[in-house]
Amino acid sequence: MHTPTIDRNQLEAFATRAIGDIASAYSGLMVGLGSKLGLYRALDGAGPTSAAELARRTDCAERYVREWLNAQAAAGYLDYHAASDTYELSPEHAQVLADEESPYFIAPAWDLPAALWAGEAKTLEAFRTGRGVAWGEHDPRLACGVAAFYRNGYRAHLVSQWLPALDGVVAALERGIAVADVGCGHGHSTRLMAEAFPRSRFFGFDAHADSIEAALRNVEASSAAQRIEFAVARATEVPDRQYGLVCFFDTLHDLGDPIAAARRAREVLAPGGSVLLVEPFAHDRVEQNLSLVGQLYYGGSTMICCSHALSEGGKLVLGAQAGPTRLADVFRKAGFGHFRRAAETPFNAIFEVRP
Ligand SMILES: C[S@@+](CC[C@H](N)C(=O)[O-])C[C@H]1O[C@@H](n2cnc3c(N)ncnc32)[C@H](O)[C@@H]1O
Repeated sequence: MHTPTIDRNQLEAFATRAIGDIASAYSGLMVGLGSKLGLYRALDGAGPTSAAELARRTDCAERYVREWLNAQAAAGYLDYHAASDTYELSPEHAQVLADEESPYFIAPAWDLPAALWAGEAKTLEAFRTGRGVAWGEHDPRLACGVAAFYRNGYRAHLVSQWLPALDGVVAALERGIAVADVGCGHGHSTRLMAEAFPRSRFFGFDAHADSIEAALRNVEASSAAQRIEFAVARATEVPDRQYGLVCFFDTLHDLGDPIAAARRAREVLAPGGSVLLVEPFAHDRVEQNLSLVGQLYYGGSTMICCSHALSEGGKLVLGAQAGPTRLADVFRKAGFGHFRRAAETPFNAIFEVRP
């Protein structure tokens, strides 16, 4: 048997990195507490604050709050002022942790790994049996975490950059068309588009009934509520209508038969209409995706995307890092002739697809 030589420096460096990853998981738990208990909101703009003052303002037990503050200071999330024994949330960190309107707000996205951890037993079994785990079989925090993770990007880019990057789509939306949002989840993308284009009508479809209920609640207070409809429907069974725009936001790669879903999009597309495909950012080859974004998406893909596609029969299990060539191939096989990358961010690739 081959006995490898151990490089002590590499061993130490990797062990340190692994411990750092464990510490990050603790940070996630601390962020969940800080977010759900209103600790960040109370610190936002408050300047240096003592543990006792924060406990009083948030109606929490001081001893717990003090330990949480120390954990957050040790992680670099908060500043600690030793002379006054106070803690401070910088305005930059407040945008990420406290300000729900900020495009950088990400605190609730920790629900995503929390949900996956809670469902670890199902994934272990799935690895051994090869069976799928459907979207709705996960801990309910999964859907909320995913919606929170993507909502910021949609707010920052969808109306201002992604739609204008598609040929003629903004003009059509301004004239008034029907839009299908396939796999709409909690409906953040549907709502953003509807509020921006008052002459168009918007139809969100999702196979997961709880997500459709959340989407309905999400748009209740919207100025565009009258022009938005949500319904439980599979991507392959999008109800008949002529849609000027069919959207897939972070959904196509989750489907068990993405080619059939693209074919259905082709069938319901109005003449001159377009498909907007938003997918996790990825290159075609594994070695090109070995980055922080790849780490995030391959992890999610292992436990969510591949397992959901397998639960739907898994005719083609794309995974969250499919890359443009495989995505283009799906649409080519579904009868589309035009596939173009229209925009990108570090987290998303945006494609324009036409017959
Ligand atoms: C990763 S989530 C994206 C949700 C939303 N579009 C977003 O960007 O926040 C994928 C969504 O696809 C839905 N989905 C999965 N399989 C589906 C199918 N066969 N037909 C319709 N929706 C499906 C899931 O229920 C889930 O809401």
